[in-house]
Amino acid sequence: MTLLRVGRKPPDVTTAGVGDETDVQVRQAVQADLLAVLRIERKSFPQPWPFSAFERYLGEPGFLVAVDDARDDESVVGFVVADLVPNHGRPLGHVKDIAVHPDCRGRGLGRTLLARALAVLGEHGAHTVKLEVRESNDVARSLYEEFGFEHLRRLPRYYDDGEDALILVVEVDE
Ligand SMILES: CC(C)(COP(=O)(O)OP(=O)(O)OC[C@H]1O[C@@H](n2cnc3c(N)ncnc32)[C@H](O)[C@@H]1OP(=O)(O)O)[C@@H](O)C(=O)NCCC(=O)NCCS
Repeated sequence: MTLLRVGRKPPDVTTAGVGDETDVQVRQAVQADLLAVLRIERKSFPQPWPFSAFERYLGEPGFLVAVDDARDDESVVGFVVADLVPNHGRPLGHVKDIAVHPDCRGRGLGRTLLARALAVLGEHGAHTVKLEVRESNDVARSLYEEFGFEHLRRLPRYYDDGEDALILVVEVDE
């Protein structure tokens, strides 16, 4: 199981953990995390995934949770769901969902989760990682820009409310 310590600085994928300032760790998600993941999902999106969607990704190396053991109430403070799609012999990474509990945003957790997910996808053979983002989601777009994601194409009216999605892609190291 992958554990990664979280600091406040942008984590270099290989050196994250140096200079810890919090008790947050990133590890692969397990069944017992799913209710907390669902609660964060529901606080984060107007059209949240159902429980069964998260269950389907259990065991995926790119389904990760950030866990803060110092919290009394809910220790799961964020998650990312990423998987690998076969693509002409070379798997394509896909970041399908990422969210941080609203009380814990702006502390570098989203950056850390994304960094770890990209590293895991790279370790499993992905050269390229894609994701979809709402055109109006400036916070997420700014996070993705930091990692070098670039606009590939637009998906008109991708979301139920009619908003377009942007497909972003980035190259990752193995
Ligand atoms: C997107 C999200 C996961 C970011 O998580 P986070 O832990 O708050 O982000 P971080 O603290 O790691 O910040 C990383 C970067 O994101 C961007 N960011 C974070 N908060 C921001 C804000 N309030 N305004 C603008 N940019 C912001 C910045 O680029 C930031 O880098 P910086 O600190 O160098 O400026 C979080 O806002 C979230 O859960 N949003 C709701 C769900 C969502 O929209 N998910 C994305 C779906 S595509």
